[in-house]
Amino acid sequence: MSTVLKVENLRKEFGGLVAVKDVSFEIKEGEFVGLIGPNGCGKSTTFNCISGLLNQTSGRVEIYGKDVSNMRPDQIHSLGMTRTFQHTRLWREMTVIENLLVPPRKQLSPNIFKSLFKFPQSRHEESLRLEKAHAILEELEVPHMAHNLASELSGGQSKLVDIGRSRMGSPNLLLLDEPVAGVAGPLAMKIFNNLRKTVDETGISILIIEHNMDFILRQGVDRIIVMNEGEVLMIGTPDEVKSNKAVIEAYLGSAGEEE
Ligand SMILES: Nc1ncnc2c1ncn2[C@@H]1O[C@H](COP(=O)(O)OP(=O)(O)OP(=O)(O)O)[C@@H](O)[C@H]1O
Ligand SMILES: [Mg+2]
Repeated sequence: MSTVLKVENLRKEFGGLVAVKDVSFEIKEGEFVGLIGPNGCGKSTTFNCISGLLNQTSGRVEIYGKDVSNMRPDQIHSLGMTRTFQHTRLWREMTVIENLLVPPRKQLSPNIFKSLFKFPQSRHEESLRLEKAHAILEELEVPHMAHNLASELSGGQSKLVDIGRSRMGSPNLLLLDEPVAGVAGPLAMKIFNNLRKTVDETGISILIIEHNMDFILRQGVDRIIVMNEGEVLMIGTPDEVKSNKAVIEAYLGSAGEEE
């Protein structure tokens, strides 16, 4: 299986704070991988470096063997990578279905109009995209919201629409930053099942940040990358993670602080 994403010795400093220390991992084609770790351990910063939003202090990111370390977000997006943000950024003044039909913020090329009007190329393509958008809303159980303004949605509903939007461009590599935070348990499980099915049926790769360890252990991911204080604590199957002493300690520690 070929390597889709390779992160090598990634480091990101913010002034004196080292948010990401020495992070290395690979994602293969057709893999569904979780990224988990306590609050502030550097998960989103890792995503921001991979997707080109932040320049890393040192280290290297490759997508399909291509060094993307110094590329802009839209250039990395055009290699087949789509990401979502922890804080959902929909076009608030547009409807749900319109949000699915335009490319997401931060992944547009600097020429916004060129990006927006590049799609669709023909009427046929337009109707296929519309069909796909409706099918995705159906899968996410929010078809009745197609014509609501994004600004009218609750936090959980916005998350769902954002997941839907990330699926529109048929990415090869999907990075999802806590996509089910605030989404009710049964639907969150359904979304994970749906993502698993997408990986198995299409062979894309998904890296998903989730804060709830108990939850992700039961969602059928192939591997889990556990971060702690900017570093990779371990990478393994859910069973390996579950029984790892260092993980248990880090998690019991952070759970204790939250209580
Ligand atoms: N733009 C920034 N400027 C300065 N510090 C930042 C910036 N972004 C993140 N940090 C800091 O870097 C550290 C890692 O943050 P990050 O958001 O990557 O953590 P996280 O694992 O995603 O946490 P959470 O689970 O809360 O989302 C934190 O201490 C955070 O305050
Ligand atoms: Mg985060």
